[in-house]
This record gives sequence, C-alpha cells and structure tokens, in this order.
Amino acid sequence: MDEITGGETTGRYSEDLRDEFRLREEPDLWRIIGSSKEIKDVLKNIQTVLESDIPVIIQGETGTGKELVARAVHYRGIRSKNPFCAINCAAIPENLIESELFGYEKGSFTGATQQYIGKFELANGGTLFLDEVDGMSLSTQSKILRVIEEQVFERVGGNKSIKTNVRIVSASNKNLLSEVNAKRFREDLYYRIAVFAIMIPPLRERKEDIPELVDCFVKRYNTLSGKRINKIDSSTLEKLVKYHWPGNIRQLQNSIRRAILVAVTTHDTLLPEHFDFPDIKEGSLRMVESLELGLSKLEVSLKRGEVLPLNEVEEVFIRQALSSTKGNISEAAEKLGISRSTIYRKMEEYGIRMDDSK
Ligand SMILES: Nc1ncnc2c1ncn2[C@@H]1O[C@H](COP(=O)(O)OP(=O)(O)OP(=O)(O)O)[C@@H](O)[C@H]1O
Ligand SMILES: [Mg+2]
Repeated sequence: MDEITGGETTGRYSEDLRDEFRLREEPDLWRIIGSSKEIKDVLKNIQTVLESDIPVIIQGETGTGKELVARAVHYRGIRSKNPFCAINCAAIPENLIESELFGYEKGSFTGATQQYIGKFELANGGTLFLDEVDGMSLSTQSKILRVIEEQVFERVGGNKSIKTNVRIVSASNKNLLSEVNAKRFREDLYYRIAVFAIMIPPLRERKEDIPELVDCFVKRYNTLSGKRINKIDSSTLEKLVKYHWPGNIRQLQNSIRRAILVAVTTHDTLLPEHFDFPDIKEGSLRMVESLELGLSKLEVSLKRGEVLPLNEVEEVFIRQALSSTKGNISEAAEKLGISRSTIYRKMEEYGIRMDDSK
C-alpha cells in the first residue's frame, strides 16, 4: 500500500482517500468494482495502456472514478516502482502553479527561502497526473506543452535545464474537445495529452453495477464503524438502483457510509429511511459533497474518540439543515432553533453559499 504514502496528491478527493487509508489499510480500496459492459470496457482500456508510456486522458463526471483509474494505470503499469504525482490544475492559483509544476530556486522571489522541487521533477520516471486539466490557464498550457515536447524544463529562477521523463495522465470532467473548440484549451496540447482516451460513463448509465458496489461499500464501512449491518432490505436496494446518482460512485459511497452511521445500533439491516437523497440539481453538488465530507469527518472523529471544535460540528449541522430544507433559510433556522440573522451570520462565517444548495 505504498500507493498512497509514495504518491503525492492534491485535491479534495485525494484527501478523502487518504482519510480512509489512515483508518485502515484496505487493499480493496484500489479495486475497480463493477461488471457492467461499461466498466469492463474501462478495464480493457486500462489494460491496453499498461505496457506503454502513451499519454492518457480520463474523462467522466465528478465521482466516476477518474483518479482511481489514473492510479490503476500507474500502479499496474511499467512505471509502478516510480512515483505517482498528482496536481490539481484547477485548485492551484495561477501565480503558484508554475512553482508547483517546475519548482523554484532559493532566492528566486521573496519568500523563496529554500529550493523547492516541483511535480515534473518529483514524478521523474513515474507518472504525472494532471487532474482537472481543463482548469489550467492558456499560459500554463503553453509552458506544459513545451516541457512535454522538449522533455526539459527549468526551475523558476533557475537556468539549469533539467531533463524529465514522465508519463502524463490527465483527467477532466468536461469534454476537452469542446474546450478546444471554445478556444479555452490549446489544440496542440490536446493532441499531446489526449492520445488515448478512457471515458468513464456515469453511474446512472450502468445501474447494474450498483448492487455490487453497495455490497462492497457496506462491508467496507461496516468494518470501519464496527457495526453489524448484514442485510440490505430489497426495497432499499430498489431505492438505490432507482436513484440517478449525480455525484456518481463517490455519492453512493458516502451515502452508504452515512446510512450505516445513522442506522441505530439495533438495526442489522439498511432500510430505505436510512437514505435521504436531497433533490440535487447540477449546481448544488458541491453543497451536498461538503455536507457528506463533513459528516464523514464527524464519524471518523467520533469513532476515534476525538473531540472536535464546536464550530466544525456546527458547520456540518447548518449544512445539513439547509440541505434538508432544500435551501429554505428561514425553515433551516427554525429547525436549528436560531434566528434568521444568526443563520445568515454563520453561513457567512463558514462560507456556505446559497446557490450551492438550491
Ligand atoms: N468502480 C469503482 N469501484 C470502487 N470504487 C470506486 C469506483 N469508482 C469510484 N470509486 C470510488 O469513488 C470515489 C470517487 O472516485 P474518484 O476520486 O476517482 O472520482 P473522480 O472521477 O476523480 O471525481 P472528481 O471529478 O470529483 O475528482 C473514490 O473513493 C473511489 O475510490
Ligand atoms: Mg478526481
């Protein structure tokens, strides 16, 4: 399992993978589950690129498993003994991305008190995972293109050319070709990084994978939480299969984790009422995901007997109230037993935006 410790990762979901890793070494965590034709095609495509250095682009909606597939391409392939480094191109501010990618020399700018090694150097011999690759500015795109073409780069503030040998795997939840057509993504870079494409279809288009995924996640979180849920009511499974899963596998996984948490200790069966799907529209996924993540963190802390700062707990409950009232602030305030002005103040304090929850 040095996959996680050895690999450098950034971004929200890499973080939740790490959290799980800390909880328990779980070899299953890296298994790509599913038997649908769609997932078999994905596995076949992974197999196709294992023996080569061909650049791969992985496309799919949020939560479909792009990072999981990127790691499979690396850890099952010929570069597996070398590092897997990930960079989330959309999450790093424009003024820092060059340093992150190429590193910098001591004294190259105020605050550069020591040399810093960038991802192209760290990933040498291994794989560089450009996550949310469409999030790069056109100017960063040009810089990356040059490195890919010439296989050399300089650290910021340095003049020594450093050779690099990395396999590029990228991911995007947008259609990158449309981004090219809209002139937001360089065509020449597109053809460099998208030599082989792996498309992961959304979960709602491969619903036959749901029972298998549910089964695996129930076992995983059961063990983690020490509960004994050994049955899933058939109406529960029906409810899970029927749902459209806008947040895909991540949402399914988090829903199960939460259901196990809320299923009272006396229950050995997951019932439909243990699942509560907010009426999610495209733009509100972020709100739901923040909530799910918050609840998971609470769960982990409670299990470890840790004490959490009250404001972290408060934030989760405010998010939950807003989610369950579909963004009705007055109703959420009433349910929480606080005034409207208090809930507004707290939402501002925690950076909860209403357009995320409607
Ligand atoms: N087929 C699968 N089998 C088992 N677990 C899966 C599968 N697909 C995704 N997962 C799990 O779902 C979670 C989300 O996957 P991942 O982070 O790879 O998604 P993503 O496509 O990168 O999402 P985002 O676009 O939001 O970054 C992870 O915990 C991952 O392990
Ligand atoms: Mg991801």
